[in-house]
Amino acid sequence: MTGETDLNARTAPEKVINSRFLKAVRREPVDATPIWLMRQAGRYMAEYRKLRERYGILDLIKTPELAVEVTMQPIRAFDLDAAIIFADILPPLEGMGLDLEFVKGEGPVLHNPVRTRADVERLVVRPPQETLRFTLEAIALARQELDPLSIPLIGFSGAPFTLAAYAVEGGSSRSHETVKALMMSDPETWHRLMDKLATVAGEYLKAQAEAGALVLQLFDSWVGTLSPADYRQYVQPYSRRAIEIAKEAGVPLIHFGTGTSGMLEDLRDAGGDVIGVDWSIDLGGAWHRLGDGVAVQGNLDPVALLAPWDALKARAKYVLDQAKGCPGHIFNLGHGIHKATPPDNVKRLVEFVHEYTGKKQR
Ligand code: CP3
Repeated sequence: MTGETDLNARTAPEKVINSRFLKAVRREPVDATPIWLMRQAGRYMAEYRKLRERYGILDLIKTPELAVEVTMQPIRAFDLDAAIIFADILPPLEGMGLDLEFVKGEGPVLHNPVRTRADVERLVVRPPQETLRFTLEAIALARQELDPLSIPLIGFSGAPFTLAAYAVEGGSSRSHETVKALMMSDPETWHRLMDKLATVAGEYLKAQAEAGALVLQLFDSWVGTLSPADYRQYVQPYSRRAIEIAKEAGVPLIHFGTGTSGMLEDLRDAGGDVIGVDWSIDLGGAWHRLGDGVAVQGNLDPVALLAPWDALKARAKYVLDQAKGCPGHIFNLGHGIHKATPPDNVKRLVEFVHEYTGKKQR
C-alpha cells in the first residue's frame, strides 16, 4: 500500500488514518475486528422511517444536509467502525439520461431502459461534478462530522455490470435474462455500453475520493448471475478499468459481489485492496483462495439478524473463528441489511464483534 495513503494522509486526521477500519484495510494488526454493515442506514431504523415520511429517497440523496443526517443515524446508534455516505447506485444512470423513479412497493424503475445500439449511443458520459454534485458535497460535509469522531467515510458506486443490469432490465430482476441476452447476442453493443459505464463508475469513485471519501466500495451486487467465463470476457475488463480510474485518487478500494464463489479469483484479479464475500462460502475458504495480497470483508448472512440473539451470536462467532484474528478482516454482512432487522440485534452484534476479537487478540 506504499504511496496509496498519500491522499488520506493529506486530508484526514492521524486518528482516522490509524482507525481500526483503515488499519484492517491495510492488513495491519488491530485492537479488535472492525465492523460496518452494508446498507447500515435505512428502513430498519425508526429515525430513517421518520425522515422518509417527509422526503422521498431521491430528495434525501440529493439534499447534502439530509444525506449527511441519514449517514450519521447508524453512527449515533451503534459503535460502528466506518460510515458509508448515504446515496444509491442508481443516480449515475440518471446522470446518463435514464429516467429513474423509486416506485413505492416496487423498487427502482428506469422508464427508458437501454435495449438497442441507438439507446446505448444516446447515453451521455458527463463529469460527476455536473451530474452527481450533491453526493460529492454530502461527502465533504460528512467528513466534517466524522473526523472529530475518528470514523472513516466510505464512498461507493455500482460496478459496470450491476449498473448495466438496472439500465437494461429497467429495474430489479430475478434472473437478469434481458441484460444477459443483450450481452450474448450483441457483443458490440454490449462492449460500447460497458465502456461508458466503466468510465462513469470510475470517474464517480475518483471524484468521491477527491471530495473526501477515505475508502471506496465497488458494488457488483448481481455479478453472480454470470458464468465465470462470461464474467472474464464481458465484464472483468470493465470492472478493472473502473477500478484503475478510481485508484488514480490514491485511496483503497473494496470490491464486493454476491454469488461470486465460482469466480472469486476473477473478481480479485479485476482489482481491489479488499474483497467483499457473501455467505455462500466459508470465510476461511474464501480467504485461502484469495491469498494474502488482499484484505477480506464479510460474510454473515443478513437474515441471521432476524433470528434470536443466540442464533445470531453463533453465526457471528463462526465468521470470526473462520478469520482466526488474521490481520485484514473487516466484519460485515454478505449483502445489505434487511429492513425487518431489529436495531437491538445490530447493537448487540457490533458489541459482540468488538468484545470477542478484542479479548482474543490481547
Ligand atoms: O449502506 C448505506 O447505508 C448507504 C446507502 C445505500 C443505499 N443503497 C440506500 C438505499 C447503498 C450502499 C445502496 C446501494 C445499492 N442500491 C445497491 C448495492 C447494494 C446491494 O444491496 O446490492 C443496489 C443494488 C441498490 C439499488 C436499490 N436501491 C434498490 C434495488 C432499492 C429498492 C429495494 C429496497 O431495498 O428498497 C433501492 C432503494 C434504497 N437505497 C433504499 C435505501 C435505504 C430503500 C428505499 C427507501 O427508503 O424507500
